[in-house]
Amino acid sequence: MELVKYSLKEVAKHNGTDGETIWIVVHDMVYDVTNYMDKHPGGRELLEEYAGQDATRGFEETGHSSDAKRILKSFIVGELVEEDKMNNRKKKDVNFVNVKGTSDRRRFLSVLCFKCAS
Ligand code: HEM
Repeated sequence: MELVKYSLKEVAKHNGTDGETIWIVVHDMVYDVTNYMDKHPGGRELLEEYAGQDATRGFEETGHSSDAKRILKSFIVGELVEEDKMNNRKKKDVNFVNVKGTSDRRRFLSVLCFKCAS
């Protein structure tokens, strides 16, 4: 089944103000978490912080269980439009280059000065 496509701009409208529903994005997928806010073991506040936004980093950095991923899937309402997906991929590429660049620089420094690189 084809998923409905939403832009980040449209997702941003669902930030819980004016009794609106609360949507978040995780890995380019859009989820309606309105009914999960008070059930979240990590607390309502953390989800509120990401209301209407991309929560991929928060979700991944917490190291959620496969159970959490299964729950997340049950809230799916759509996916991001291609343009926003592409921007997300670009952001990831930039991060990758940065991380790689840092380690290259460290390796270079380690040749010059053992202490600087540690
Ligand atoms: C709809 C999206 C989310 C779902 C379905 C979800 C689900 C869960 C579940 C089931 C747990 C219990 C532990 C586990 O099974 O991994 C948990 C814990 C937690 N979650 Fe989420 N989560 C979501 C989004 C987020 C986001 C965006 C954050 C942002 C930082 C977050 C932060 C946490 C934290 C810190 C805990 C640990 C709570 C503790 O152990 O006291 N979660 N979440």
